[in-house]
Amino acid sequence: MRKTGFVVFVLFGLACFIAAGSLGADAWAQNIPKVKEFRIERSMPKEAVACIECHKLENPGLFADWTQSRHASAGITCYDCHKAADTDADVSQNHFKQYQRSDQKFGTSEYKVPVAAVVTPKDCSRCHPDEAKQYAQSKHANTLEIIWKIDPWLNKGMNSDFERATGCFHCHGTVLRNDKDGNLDAEVWPNVGVGRLNMDGSLGSCTSCHTRHMFSVMEARKPEACGPSTVTSTPPTETATTGMRPRGPGVPA
Ligand code: HEC
Ligand code: HEC
Ligand code: HEC
Ligand code: HEC
Ligand code: HEC
Repeated sequence: MRKTGFVVFVLFGLACFIAAGSLGADAWAQNIPKVKEFRIERSMPKEAVACIECHKLENPGLFADWTQSRHASAGITCYDCHKAADTDADVSQNHFKQYQRSDQKFGTSEYKVPVAAVVTPKDCSRCHPDEAKQYAQSKHANTLEIIWKIDPWLNKGMNSDFERATGCFHCHGTVLRNDKDGNLDAEVWPNVGVGRLNMDGSLGSCTSCHTRHMFSVMEARKPEACGPSTVTSTPPTETATTGMRPRGPGVPA
C-alpha cells in the first residue's frame, strides 16, 4: 500500500516535470527562428540522395533554397526535375565527370545517371499537367514566333544575331541548341526567356516567373516577378493574367 502511494507520487512528479519542460520549450521556440530540418526519406532513390549530398557542398545557396521549397517538403528531389534519358539532346555531357571523382563519397559510378541542366515545361508537366497546358497556349509561350512574324525591326532592322540575342531574346527566349561538343551552346544558354524553344519541342521556361529553387507561388504573385521582362508601362498583374490566357481557334484575341 505504501509502495503504491510512492509510485503514484513519483509518476505525478514526473508528469509535472514533463509538462513544465514542454511549456518552457514552447516559449523558447517562439523566440528562435525555426531551423529548417532536412530529412532524407527512405523511399528516395540513392541516385537522388547523391545529387542532394554532393550539391549541398557544391552549391550551398541552391541547396538552401530547395530545402525551403514546397518541393522539398513533398520529397521532390533534384533528380525528379533534372532527370534525362541518355538519348535526350539536352543531356549534360560534362556532368558525367562528376561520377568519376575520388574526393566525394557520392562521386562514383554507383550513382551515375544522366541529367539535363534545362528543365522544360514538359518536365514540369509530369506533375503539373494543367499549368503546363495553360502555359503552352499562352501568349508568353508563343512570343518568339509572334515577334518574328510581326516585328520588321527584328527581321531587317538589326545588324546581327548578337544584337538580337542581347536585345530581344533575353526576355523573349532563345532557340536552344548544342555546340559541337554536345554541350549547350553558350550563345543561347543560359536563358530563361518566356518563349524559349527547348530541345524537347516544348516552349518557354516556367522559371521566368517561378524562380529557382524555391518555386514559390508567393514570389510569382509579386509584381517584381515580372521585373526583368515586363515593360514598365504595362501593369504587371495585367501582363501576368493576359499572358496566361489561352489563345487559339475560338478564343477571342
Ligand atoms: C559528386 C558530386 C555531384 C553529384 C553526385 C551530382 N552533381 Fe550535379 N554537379 C556537380 C558539380 C560540381 C557541378 C558543377 C559543374 C560545373 O560547373 O562544371 C554540377 C552541375 C550540375 C548541373 C548543371 C549542369 C550543367 O551542364 O550546367 C545540374 C543540373 C546538376 N548538377 C544536377 C544534378 C543532379 C540532378 C544530380 C543527381 C542525379 C547531380 N547533379 C549529382 C556535382 C555533382
Ligand atoms: C522543381 C524542379 C527542380 C528541382 C526540384 C530542382 N531543380 Fe535545379 N533547376 C530547375 C530549373 C527550372 C532550372 C533552370 C533551368 C532552365 O532554365 O531550364 C534549374 C537549374 C539548376 C542548375 C543550373 C544552375 C542554375 O541555378 O541556373 C543547377 C546546378 C541545378 N538546377 C541543380 C539542382 C539541384 C542540385 C537540385 C536539388 C537540390 C535541384 N536543382 C532541384 C528545376 C529544379
Ligand atoms: C515529380 C513531381 C514534380 C515535378 C517534376 C515538379 N513539381 Fe512542382 N510541385 C510538386 C508537388 C507535389 C507540389 C506540391 C507540394 C505541396 O503542396 O506541398 C508542387 C508545388 C509546386 C508549386 C507551388 C509552390 C507553392 O509555393 O505553393 C509551384 C509553383 C511548382 N510546383 C512549380 C513547378 C515547376 C515550375 C516545375 C518544373 C520546373 C515543377 N514544379 C516540377 C511536384 C512536382
Ligand atoms: C526587358 C524585356 C524585353 C526585351 C529585351 C524585349 N522585349 Fe519585346 N516585349 C516584352 C514584353 C514584356 C512584351 C509584352 C508587352 C505588352 O504587351 O505591352 C513585349 C512585346 C513585344 C512585341 C509585341 C508582341 C505582341 O504580340 O503584341 C514585339 C513584336 C516585341 N516585344 C519585339 C521585341 C524585339 C524585336 C526586341 C529586341 C529589339 C524585344 N522585343 C526586346 C519584353 C521585352
Ligand atoms: C508569367 C508568369 C508565370 C509563368 C511563366 C508560370 N507561372 Fe505558374 N504561377 C504564376 C502565378 C502568378 C501563380 C499564382 C497564381 C495565384 O495567384 O494563385 C502561379 C501558380 C502556379 C502553381 C500553383 C497553382 C496552385 O493551384 O496553387 C503551379 C503548380 C505553377 N504555377 C506551375 C507552373 C508551371 C509548371 C509553369 C510552366 C509550364 C508555370 N507555372 C509558369 C505565374 C507564372
